[in-house]
Amino acid sequence: MILYGTAYIDGELKKRYIGIEDGKIDFVKKHYKGDVEVKQIDEIILPAGIDLHVHFRDPGSTDKEDFYTGSKAAAFGGVTTVADMPNNHPPILTPDTFDKKLQMVEERSCIDFALYSLIGDDVGSMIEKTGLFKVYLSSSTSTEKKIHEDGIRKVYKNGGKIAFHCEDEDYFNKPGTDLPGYNNYRPVESEVQAISSLNELPEGPKRVCHISTKKGLQEALSDGFSVEVTPHHLFLNEEAFLGGFGKVNPPLRTQNDQIALWESYERGDIDFLASDHAPHLEDEKTDFIDAPPGIPGVETMYPLLLHSVSMGNISLSTVIETIAEKPGRYLNTKKGKIEEGYDADLTMVDFRKIETIDRENLHSKAGWSPFEGFNAVFPVHVMSRGEFLIKDNEFIGDKGRGKFISAKA
Ligand code: NCD
Ligand code: ZN
Ligand code: ZN
Repeated sequence: MILYGTAYIDGELKKRYIGIEDGKIDFVKKHYKGDVEVKQIDEIILPAGIDLHVHFRDPGSTDKEDFYTGSKAAAFGGVTTVADMPNNHPPILTPDTFDKKLQMVEERSCIDFALYSLIGDDVGSMIEKTGLFKVYLSSSTSTEKKIHEDGIRKVYKNGGKIAFHCEDEDYFNKPGTDLPGYNNYRPVESEVQAISSLNELPEGPKRVCHISTKKGLQEALSDGFSVEVTPHHLFLNEEAFLGGFGKVNPPLRTQNDQIALWESYERGDIDFLASDHAPHLEDEKTDFIDAPPGIPGVETMYPLLLHSVSMGNISLSTVIETIAEKPGRYLNTKKGKIEEGYDADLTMVDFRKIETIDRENLHSKAGWSPFEGFNAVFPVHVMSRGEFLIKDNEFIGDKGRGKFISAKA
């Protein structure tokens, strides 16, 4: 197959022929003379998104999401690769739980995926299987604090990678009953202290998940950790009228923190944009005190950012670097770039087609979005390894076509 259109290549938009064979980009050329039929693309062709932080709830809470609905929602948002977190029921910690999860989700995923493991006594086998780990420095939804120093050392010795949920429970206050109260309950200091405590752990590449505060970001940058930011911390703050629907760990912060995150994003300080897609059902979220923390976002992340690009609020290259290029490298894959030898994972968008986010049009089992009413640029076509998952806004992807990616170096 050969596509012809304006594509994001080497940091610029250029009119090119993109040859695709066996799911990979075979060539990127200015001129093409041959007898293969060329498919003209009227939209802008961008690398598809790679979301390093999702909770597809499979196995354990498939009433909230499963790998089919989660991966389909991702595809509709231009994301064709995800890395799924291990806070399942049962938690993913042993070869047995990992194998069972892999077997199950392989049959359901319509996009490629990596899987995190927690760090326990069996870490050696898990390094072989995935190379990708998650450590919680505090409790969060369906998980608790667990630091296994020997395990961390082993992971780093063998080239594995670890993502950290950074909140320090020693700095928590009394839980409040609204969003500012929730922010105060798990305050800025709890994030900063948790990040700083990573310095006491064995040496190795540390990625700080969902950084939510200016001070937390400064701490992580000065320590040389890689930094991940979510769309909800970029687009929302504690003043949003969301009640329990805005409850998330770490909390939505003040407007000042939100602005500081945007400024850092514009400066190029952020490595990864990841959704922390953490769906919970509407019924569970209506009562603030009982609401489980977590916000869905895999489908709206790239579209929200592309709208920001269309408004001139952020550069296209910063968005693509954080949503595709760097995450692709992090997973040790040939994904995230339109370049010879890379997987043909593409999203095709029309920047003039601005839509309003409407829960009716979203595909997560959550059934709601904290970004309802926000403007967004959703893709017209989406391709994964040369196969259209979305064509003219219609989903045509196959369940179970997604492949497991081992992030092992
Ligand atoms: C996540 C979840 O629901 O799984 N919740 C959240 O508030 N972010 C867990 C997590 O990432 O901490
Ligand atoms: Zn977390
Ligand atoms: Zn998470």
